[in-house]
Amino acid sequence: MIKTEQLQRYFHAGDTCVKAVDNIDINIAPGEFVAIMGPSGSGKSTLLYVLGAMDKPTGGVISINSKRLDLMNDQECSDFRNKALGFVFQSFHLLPRMNLVRNTEIPMVYAQVPSEERKSRAEKMLRAVGLGERFHHYPTELSGGQCQRAAIARALVNYPALLLADEPTGNLDSKTGLEIIGVFQALNRSGMTVVMVTHDENMARHAGRIIRMKDGRIERIELVKEPLQSLLPAEIETSLQEVCNEAY
Ligand SMILES: Nc1ncnc2c1ncn2[C@@H]1O[C@H](COP(=O)(O)OP(=O)(O)O)[C@@H](O)[C@H]1O
Ligand SMILES: [Mg+2]
Repeated sequence: MIKTEQLQRYFHAGDTCVKAVDNIDINIAPGEFVAIMGPSGSGKSTLLYVLGAMDKPTGGVISINSKRLDLMNDQECSDFRNKALGFVFQSFHLLPRMNLVRNTEIPMVYAQVPSEERKSRAEKMLRAVGLGERFHHYPTELSGGQCQRAAIARALVNYPALLLADEPTGNLDSKTGLEIIGVFQALNRSGMTVVMVTHDENMARHAGRIIRMKDGRIERIELVKEPLQSLLPAEIETSLQEVCNEAY
């Protein structure tokens, strides 16, 4: 699903060159749940942004589902992002002046989904993450965990093949963080490929594989023999499964 060869993202400023991603080779299979770990500044976010076609590599090869991201122009990158990828960020990135349904509709506006369909799909995804009672609430009226679940609903509306998350539990207490991990695990059980950056070892141990980075390079890749499980209420598990079954 994801394959990189000698992937590089260097930042040049004057005479200095920061090798944020420095010759990285990775292979992620469809249906994997991978955590990327490493100290602050080790290049995790930069790698994730390059994997997510939000940033261009300065060298090397990256392909997702056999599509060469490094060869795409900006328009092709944004189309690809919109169609094939879902993103979740530490700070949720919800728009404060829009209610949850409108926020969740945004990726479908870019995809030119007709407005009736947008609304019904947004509501379906919000219901799937347990926010069926919150359609018309604004982000400021919700807890951090609810905001992150709304952000996940938004990431799913175009039925992406791959979900990318940058420190998705970084702004949440550990109990709420585990609920979010539970959502990722449920999606992953239903076939979704998930790549999550985290610096929290306890969160990473819920993934099947941990890629450890240091100074822009891969220090070690670790198979997690028995990933910890974060279970969700049965009805959320079922509704997430239904959403995935429709999509893949
Ligand atoms: N836009 C940028 N311009 C210059 N340097 C950057 C930029 N983005 C990241 N870097 C540098 O790249 C390195 C990796 O950063 P980052 O990927 O954000 O690390 P992490 O997410 O692991 O904390 C850091 O040294 C950071 O300062
Ligand atoms: Mg980061």
